[in-house]
Amino acid sequence: MRIDILTLFPNMFNGPFDESIIKRAIDNNIVNIVFHNLRDWGLGKHKMVDDYPFGGGSGMVMKPEPLFDAMEAIIAQDSNSSAQVILLTPQGRLFNQGIAAELAKNNRLIFICGHYEGVDERVREHLATDELSIGDYVLTGGELAAMVVIDAVIRQLPGVLGSEESASDDSHTAGLLEYPQYTRPQSYRGWEVPQVLISGNHAQIAKWRREQSILRTFKRRPDLLDKANLSAQERKLVAK
Ligand code: 6GU
Repeated sequence: MRIDILTLFPNMFNGPFDESIIKRAIDNNIVNIVFHNLRDWGLGKHKMVDDYPFGGGSGMVMKPEPLFDAMEAIIAQDSNSSAQVILLTPQGRLFNQGIAAELAKNNRLIFICGHYEGVDERVREHLATDELSIGDYVLTGGELAAMVVIDAVIRQLPGVLGSEESASDDSHTAGLLEYPQYTRPQSYRGWEVPQVLISGNHAQIAKWRREQSILRTFKRRPDLLDKANLSAQERKLVAK
């Protein structure tokens, strides 16, 4: 997968992609991340990228020309693959695990990080193919949101997680939160690991984990249960 990121602040991305699983995915050429500083396409000798809003009001709006020019240049760098163009904005559709899985099927993603009061509407209408938000709160810009989305997408790519880090049991993969996990020591400060987990009875362990997942989702995120994949018997348990 190739990921292009258009941003006014490429340095914000130093760090998150330089460690751990994402670094390994980059080193193994599973994903190639290419940064583009929008300032490079700024207008005039001041490399202007934003301007006052027509109609007045506070804040600045990102101008369309640097974004369209940057996009045309980077599409041309690899015109073989068709790309999804994702604008990060608090007005986008709410990002979730299902969207991460959909995005992971593409071989090219281009992220536009909005800033200031927003981007000129013509960018939304004629350049972006999708708009995403990561939650109902306002960030100073789209960069942190892009990092969140990109991290969630990359860990879905084949070969990124080792078998010991498998994504199949994750919270949200089955529409449920994950069950409680324990490791050694078996007794810590008098707090014991649940007996079933050291019983060696794999059927009992699987049953306990499934119940814990459902219980935890019911207590913490009842909104998720409506869409979760539960058996008729499990639905009865929830109703009770
Ligand atoms: Cl994508 N951008 C900004 N600026 N704020 C956000 C967001 C995005 N998602 C949630 N809050």
